[in-house]
Amino acid sequence: MNVTTRPVDAVSVHPAEALAAVLAQELAATEAEIAARMESPVGLIPDVAHHLVDAGGKRLRPLLTLAAASACGKVTEGAIKLATAVEFIHTATLLHDDVVDGSSLRRGKRAANLIWGDKASVLVGDFLFARAFNLMVETGSLQVLDILAKAASTIAEGEVLQLATTNRGEASRERYYQVIEAKTAALFAAACEAGAITAGAPTVMVEGLAHYGQKLGLAFQLVDDALDYGGLTQSLGKNTGDDFREGKATLPLIIALERAQGEERLFWQRVLARKHQDEDLAFAMQTIRLRGAVEATLDEARAHVSDAKAALACLPDGVIPQLLANLADYVVSRLN
Ligand code: IPE
Ligand code: IPE
Ligand code: MG
Ligand code: MG
Repeated sequence: MNVTTRPVDAVSVHPAEALAAVLAQELAATEAEIAARMESPVGLIPDVAHHLVDAGGKRLRPLLTLAAASACGKVTEGAIKLATAVEFIHTATLLHDDVVDGSSLRRGKRAANLIWGDKASVLVGDFLFARAFNLMVETGSLQVLDILAKAASTIAEGEVLQLATTNRGEASRERYYQVIEAKTAALFAAACEAGAITAGAPTVMVEGLAHYGQKLGLAFQLVDDALDYGGLTQSLGKNTGDDFREGKATLPLIIALERAQGEERLFWQRVLARKHQDEDLAFAMQTIRLRGAVEATLDEARAHVSDAKAALACLPDGVIPQLLANLADYVVSRLN
């Protein structure tokens, strides 16, 4: 399935949608694989999985796998399986993450943990992780299995590291970047890298695309953390202020603390030391805005986007590299 010759829909302006339009056939095959592979005779599994999967989601990570494969020459059956595996890993981490973060809204719907409880969310997440490994094995490539298995363990390390350092009164940039590199950028990188490998791409392209994914993932999480303070629940489909309520040391908070004046320093230190400061959210939002912390976070995201785009130089000119560059730009202007 070589799709690079298919015309881009000139009407599509949304970069992710433009990419999805070019890869429509491959994406439809991936959606069909996702639906087929989350089935189980144990009814609670498809119930929980459908609730989350059918609620939408941007399907950014499988799109990256398909786009990387396509940019490197061909989208094989193996690439479709890997795109499915990548989305399953992502879905599993969302199920687990909402339990850990005590979140109540995901993709505009009640979070699964709120409907079926923490235990069901954790166990169905485990099922999806395991299914992702079945799919990887089916490709017969130990190389992609190695890449995605490492990404899966790295994500878990990132989430555990965040857990272990939250509410400890700490706020360090170094630790923050360590966490987002692991919990988010690793899967973006692996999604791109694995896609390139299925197309038999040369090392320079595989590494370049992995670098693109890693930088895109960093920018994506930085923007996500900015939106937790500066976005709208309605467009995000998840609650804003969750990071604040959890006392998480995300970059907007770290920057606000760096720029704190007078009593603000004590305020942020108190926020970092404990949970449940619902009553303080309004002051936090006001201070974050006053110190320009959301804009400064977006500036850092823009720097990573620029690195991501530079990494695309590994690819020959074409429609897909152009759309991947547009996608990187879109990541910093996204509202959901
Ligand atoms: C949410 O990812 C988790 C983060 C890394 C911030 P997405 O924003 O890609 O989630 P969906 O799949 O579109 O819902
Ligand atoms: C999402 O992390 C889960 C992973 C990246 C593994 P967050 O907790 O930061 O994201 P949201 O806001 O719940 O989507
Ligand atoms: Mg969360
Ligand atoms: Mg989290």
